[in-house]
Amino acid sequence: MRKILLGLAILASFFSIQAQSLKQNIIPIPVSAVSLRSNYSIDNNTKIIFDASQKLDFEAKWLKEKIVDKYGINLQISNDIALLNANSNIRFIVSDTAKWCEKEGHHININQNGIEIIAQTQAGIFMGLQTIMQILPQSKNDNKLVVSGIKISDKPSYQWRGLNLDCCRHFMEKDFVIRYIDLLAMHKMNTLHWHLTEDQAWRIEIKKYPLLTKIGAWRTMSDGSIYGGFYTQEDVREVVEYARQRHINVVPEIEMPGHAVAALASYPHLSCTGGPFEVERQFGVFDDIYCAGNDEVFTFLKNVIDEVLELFPSEYIHIGGDEAPKVRWEKCPKCQKRIKDENLKDEFELQSWFINQMNDYITSKGRRIIGWDEILEGGADKYKGVTVQSWRGFEGALDAAQSENFAIVSPTTYCYYDGDVAHTTLKTVYSFDLIPEGLAPEHHHRIIGSEACMWTEYAPQHTIDSKLFPRIVALAEVLWSPKENRNWDNFKTRLETHYLRLNELGVKYGFERSPMNLEIKSDMANKGFICTIVPGQDGLSFTYAFVKNGKTDEFKKYEKPVFTSDASGIEVKIFNALGEESGTVSRNFSFHKAAGKTIKINTPYAEQYAAGGNNNLIDGMKGTDNFRDLLWQGYTGTDVEVIIDMEQKTEISKVSTSTFQSTLAWIFHPTKVDVYLSNNGKKWKKAGEALNKISERNSDNTIQEFSVEFKKQKIRYIKLVAKSIGQCPEWHRGAGHNSWIFMDEIEVE
Ligand code: ACM
Ligand code: ZN
Repeated sequence: MRKILLGLAILASFFSIQAQSLKQNIIPIPVSAVSLRSNYSIDNNTKIIFDASQKLDFEAKWLKEKIVDKYGINLQISNDIALLNANSNIRFIVSDTAKWCEKEGHHININQNGIEIIAQTQAGIFMGLQTIMQILPQSKNDNKLVVSGIKISDKPSYQWRGLNLDCCRHFMEKDFVIRYIDLLAMHKMNTLHWHLTEDQAWRIEIKKYPLLTKIGAWRTMSDGSIYGGFYTQEDVREVVEYARQRHINVVPEIEMPGHAVAALASYPHLSCTGGPFEVERQFGVFDDIYCAGNDEVFTFLKNVIDEVLELFPSEYIHIGGDEAPKVRWEKCPKCQKRIKDENLKDEFELQSWFINQMNDYITSKGRRIIGWDEILEGGADKYKGVTVQSWRGFEGALDAAQSENFAIVSPTTYCYYDGDVAHTTLKTVYSFDLIPEGLAPEHHHRIIGSEACMWTEYAPQHTIDSKLFPRIVALAEVLWSPKENRNWDNFKTRLETHYLRLNELGVKYGFERSPMNLEIKSDMANKGFICTIVPGQDGLSFTYAFVKNGKTDEFKKYEKPVFTSDASGIEVKIFNALGEESGTVSRNFSFHKAAGKTIKINTPYAEQYAAGGNNNLIDGMKGTDNFRDLLWQGYTGTDVEVIIDMEQKTEISKVSTSTFQSTLAWIFHPTKVDVYLSNNGKKWKKAGEALNKISERNSDNTIQEFSVEFKKQKIRYIKLVAKSIGQCPEWHRGAGHNSWIFMDEIEVE
């Protein structure tokens, strides 16, 4: 009986959390929230009161400024402790007895006796203020702000709730970084992971090595222009202090041994080969990394770390460790000597040894390292007490947690918000469970939290909001709120109010999932295409324009599927619920003679790049300049051989196709494309060939058309063979591994 009653009580309290938090629309949802009948009115006579010895000046000023800005009500701040016991006003109390709150939790009581926030720490009070700001009414009435009574107890599920900002691939202005500190605070996040060094830039001033920013902060773009920027030590201090006041820890990331080309361009003697190098303008993974056999590298890195430790009080320092190819180390006599001298098995153990040099140094200064999961490649048993950031799935987190280390779990599927929202939807993020499958409960405490990762290869500053939001809101709730309080439908409802808060702050949030699907079907009878827009979420509207002879028509409002027989493409603009243009999609198509006919593919395409499947190469749709657009079909380690059956003898004189080259992604143009013709599908006659004209060493992303023309003739069968280069070339990072061919439409005219 007792058990049943207890069960009912828990159920009742669960519903009160849901009902109340839904009404108040608090994000992240609190541990418990119970509404009260009484309420409290804030007006110009209301004071914020705290004991001066409790150092809550910043918190009080923060609340005062928010309230005067939003409501024009000017609260007084008072340290008169006699008033702390009075039944009125807004009272902040830091008390050791509030043990339940731990470091960031708090109790909030709002009733006829005022507003009281109790916590163990200033951080707990500050996090409570974020909740208060969400539950204040939209506007004041008669110069009074009437706040509904409520009793909240709240604290986080995970201690590490972060955002990783890559300020290297694209530079972010200091004020933009500061704005993100406020946005993190609003979502009760507590860590800014500041990614400051890369192949494409070194962004932090180091006094001892001025070339790092004189050379390393700037790169020459393909059009000859110079792109870059860096943070002075003064800038860094300002950002760190701004964050500290808001109880956010700033963790710098100084990458090693890989992702270091900008440093090597500045100081080439730190490499295995001696260079010279240019700051990279391409994106990818590069062979030139710090030499592990050269003692000067460690002197350099320790000197850099010394200045970094001065600037960042953070207990944790991120030293990267990801994506460090071993090809230079394999050939470098100094690195090989190190392997021998230190009795190491191979280059992977050399990486562990490298990381441990820096781990020992940083630990000796009373700090701790974080490294990406590749630091475990030489064996998880090489470390004790380090923190691993697991990004290639959960494996690294599992290994770390099972080997007396710790893990920040940020797998690409759930946490990489530079990625397409079509793959990592808001709902996917909300379903994120940090605990790796198979991890025994006694190790769960080693999973300390997660981060939103904002990589910026393809994301200049003005696009960051739309990639991070709303997904980071879902992540904030996953990290803060207890699992049993989380509910997707409930979250979606609260998010509607949260969007209004984001609007007020000018956050240009993006989509919850793919905003639209553009379906294009060939209409054989009418020799054209029917274009249909399928919206991915409510509240969006679209305009479209056809492209004819290289010119874009006027945009028209999209209402129903549209047909064209003379356009070569369509452009669509997407408008969000506020009517703001928030994205564009374009497709090229071609109604050629083989569109919609029959195709036989003799060489299998890769499942993950199947694009439209078997008919992809004759569906009339051409690939875009993004090879991941699901329009390019990918083949690995094989020529491409296909046979098109025109179904009846058809007069033709030209066969063409296009391929994509992105050598950093191991995708190469074929050496040539051969075209054969037949009328029985058995005896073939070569009609011609088209040769590759773009060097395999050209690392720009390029699209090349291969076109074979011949005497006009009536033909039933066409065979097209694209010759692969086979394995990646000797000089390439993928040497010895299969290369790729990416092909789109085969056009027949
Ligand atoms: C990573 O995404 N290379 C950590
Ligand atoms: Zn070396």
